[in-house]
Amino acid sequence: MELKEELLKLKFIMFGGKGGVGKTSCASSAAIWAAENGRNTLIISTDPAHSLGDSLGLELPPGIPTPVDHIKNLTALEINPKANMADFKGLTNINPMEDLEMGGLDEMGMFGEIQELSSMNPPGIDEALAFGKILEFIETEHNFDLIVFDTAPTGHTLRFLSLPETLSGWIGKMLKLRVKLGNFLGVFKNFFKKEKSEKDNSMEVLERLNNSILNARDDLINPEITSFVIVMIPEEMAIAETGRLLNQLIKYNMSVSNMVINQIFPKKEELCDFCKNRRNMQEKHIKRIIEIFKDKMNKNIIQIPLFNDEVRKYGKLKELADYLIQ
Ligand SMILES: Nc1ncnc2c1ncn2[C@@H]1O[C@H](COP(=O)(O)OP(=O)(O)OP(=O)(O)O)[C@@H](O)[C@H]1O
Ligand SMILES: [Mg+2]
Repeated sequence: MELKEELLKLKFIMFGGKGGVGKTSCASSAAIWAAENGRNTLIISTDPAHSLGDSLGLELPPGIPTPVDHIKNLTALEINPKANMADFKGLTNINPMEDLEMGGLDEMGMFGEIQELSSMNPPGIDEALAFGKILEFIETEHNFDLIVFDTAPTGHTLRFLSLPETLSGWIGKMLKLRVKLGNFLGVFKNFFKKEKSEKDNSMEVLERLNNSILNARDDLINPEITSFVIVMIPEEMAIAETGRLLNQLIKYNMSVSNMVINQIFPKKEELCDFCKNRRNMQEKHIKRIIEIFKDKMNKNIIQIPLFNDEVRKYGKLKELADYLIQ
């Protein structure tokens, strides 16, 4: 599917790639285009180092969805994944040591398991919670047609994508262990008539989190719902990193149809030597990108020129959209 069609049909579109290549600019520009073409659009930045507000030219209070001035149908949101960690406190608190004093856990072969699970935070829990929050927000409070994600540079994005698997594995283990431990301790607790001091609803919270992550995963790998757009610049390092990102996305079954080559030097006779050199260097890489990703892997390649000014705020983002949506 061409990007234009994806913006008109899909529910989630994620922009990702190496640092500084133009992910935020492309995501903002695409979101503006979609909103102006009738889709009720939310753009979310999941990069802890936010620049979405700067790109759109407005103040975005963290965690609060904010309507974008003068653009009907567009809401922007910057979330801080770390801020949600507080919600997780206590979930893994199963007090293995206190419970151990009653003895017997060792014989049941659970000591190792408990130590392992209770001592670590699940991998990527912060992103999971952030994503869970987003889904809850999208499902319960609003009726968005399209959610555009401006993701963090490659490394973070990958962690976020690998989450559903690792996290649900972790939660699954945790749930099983809690059931075992709960049954086991229940016997002792009744025997000693020891009352539970506080209400423990962490099982429910874990189960809910697990479900929303599994649902999210289904949505993320469904090409009718989600697509990932890789943004890059025509340089050797960026191509190498793009290849790795694409491989990861393929591994997670995420659909990628469109790739953007951004910041291409204009082809002009009057270029200075410096610019000509850069232009030649870029041309070589553009050729390779097309060979690898278009010819061999069948991706749409979108080419965007280097603007003579920063790409910020409505006017410039609209100009960018003209190239993005050909
Ligand atoms: N085609 C372009 N021409 C000129 N400047 C551009 C172009 N695309 C992006 N920029 C500028 O490059 C800078 C980086 O762009 P942007 O913030 O979109 O990248 P990013 O990939 O989101 O970066 P980060 O990894 O830091 O989040 C910005 O100052 C932006 O205005
Ligand atoms: Mg960015």
